[in-house]
Amino acid sequence: MKKYDEIFTELPEEEYLKSVSYKYRKKLGQFFTPMFMADFMTEWIINNESGTEILDPALGLGIFFRTIIKNHPTKINKLRFIGYDIDTKMIEITKNLFSNAKYINIQILNKDYLTEDWDKKYDGIVCNPPYLKFHDYEPKDVLLKMFSTRLGMKLSGFTNIYTLFMLRSIWQLKNGGRAAYIVPSEFLNSDYGKNVKKYIKENGTLRFVIIIDFNLGVFENATTTSSVLLFANDQYNKEVEFINVKNLNELKLIQNYVLSYPLIRKKGRVIKIKELDEAQKWRIYYQELNGSKYRNLVSLSKYTKVSRGIANGANNYFMFSESKRIKYNIKMKFLLPCLAKASYARKHFFTKEDFEELKKSDKPVYLLNATDLSDEDLRKYIELGEEQGIHKRYLTSHRTPWYSLENRPPAPILATVFNRTGLRFVRNEAGVYNLTAFHCVYLNPNIMPKIDLLMAYLITDVAKEIFEDSRREYGDGLRKFEPNDLNNAFVVDLEKIDSKREENILKLFYKFRESEIKGKNTDKIKNELNEIFLEILKR
Ligand SMILES: C[S@@+](CC[C@H](N)C(=O)[O-])C[C@H]1O[C@@H](n2cnc3c(N)ncnc32)[C@H](O)[C@@H]1O
Repeated sequence: MKKYDEIFTELPEEEYLKSVSYKYRKKLGQFFTPMFMADFMTEWIINNESGTEILDPALGLGIFFRTIIKNHPTKINKLRFIGYDIDTKMIEITKNLFSNAKYINIQILNKDYLTEDWDKKYDGIVCNPPYLKFHDYEPKDVLLKMFSTRLGMKLSGFTNIYTLFMLRSIWQLKNGGRAAYIVPSEFLNSDYGKNVKKYIKENGTLRFVIIIDFNLGVFENATTTSSVLLFANDQYNKEVEFINVKNLNELKLIQNYVLSYPLIRKKGRVIKIKELDEAQKWRIYYQELNGSKYRNLVSLSKYTKVSRGIANGANNYFMFSESKRIKYNIKMKFLLPCLAKASYARKHFFTKEDFEELKKSDKPVYLLNATDLSDEDLRKYIELGEEQGIHKRYLTSHRTPWYSLENRPPAPILATVFNRTGLRFVRNEAGVYNLTAFHCVYLNPNIMPKIDLLMAYLITDVAKEIFEDSRREYGDGLRKFEPNDLNNAFVVDLEKIDSKREENILKLFYKFRESEIKGKNTDKIKNELNEIFLEILKR
């Protein structure tokens, strides 16, 4: 193959991946778009006859422009390409790549897209933005100010940079312009996405949301699932269509359909733009909810309040094993029994015996609660923390004093935060504190007497199935629940359980508890419990 032809393949990306470490790429959010996806996205832009100035705000090695040149050789003399990338090294390689195609009108800028050139507008914008936490971005203040004056938006610290790229781009579309963005689906279903969705809704340019099924890993190594969002700044601003795509074949099939826009509609689910609800997870527009099959459900917040566990910002420093406690001579009154990792409580019950076991095997089971620095040993340990710079970490530096603890008393039930096999609730019989690997599930006082009944429900498969509606997903099957996801999730209405059934359920639950603690197989009992709850829930 001639050197020049290589730009129409994925070879430049393959070579780059070999030459740069994963750590470096992660720091800059460098994950490349496969060519089949670039083919799909660029068609949306090029199909728009009016477009001449095409922008890629996060250029990388320019896969989108290369794809356009490959697929539309006759059109390129009318096009002008503009690409931004913050990475000087990347820019050099990309300039070199395009130097083989002298006839192309391209401007490659080594600039930060988010802060530069706010007054420019474009006919076409195509982008795979970097996935980076806002928290890690500098200069934050400049960005906050720009988004508030230009877009009238107040950004939350939880925002991810990729959403800011997208918002800015739709703001930058000329009349009649189009944009195609490939982004993690996460913002559609997370709290930080609320503001973003609100802006998108009010802006009125979103036409298609194409959800790429999770089995089709679009990016290597990145734990994210993707959606392609297609925008058009035109007069057809009443509806948006959500389409699920499960494989490459389906993606090809919907290509023509999408390109027939605005003629035919309704292959997927069409929603009126004004009816989009930013407060909801947008999953409701593209997935059938498990809970919709069942009746007698209420929100979990009727019974509980879920909060995240204690975040201390330096687990190694704040957590103590038995031997570490002895080494530093820290008194028991300054230590709280605490669960640090999900793997330390693998069952549905965490008993006093389990805690003792962890302690015996010298696991970190105590959380430092430094309440009185007149104690000399304690003071020395705090000074040691200062020598190690623990007080300058993000969380500790925002506390006064830096070693103080958040006030999160032990919760009677804990819930795992990250899950692969479904959400797991743990009855905290040992009454220990917990770090952020678990959420704290506090029960309203009036429901405390029913804790076993609630717990019996929480261990069933049907409960897990309904909780799934509230999950957030990461590409490789990892699921996450934020406290509010759980607060707003649905559970069985305990008032719909008559006393006879309740008796039955409790009998089975105690049997389950005993068997699980003894390490016996619990499948049969769990199935029986599940059947009873299904009878209550089935329509
Ligand atoms: C996800 S990659 C996409 C690369 C290429 N467009 C593709 O789709 O294969 C994102 C690119 O944005 C660049 N980048 C990160 N932060 C940026 C910023 N603030 N402004 C412009 N480019 C940035 C990274 O260096 C990286 O090359």
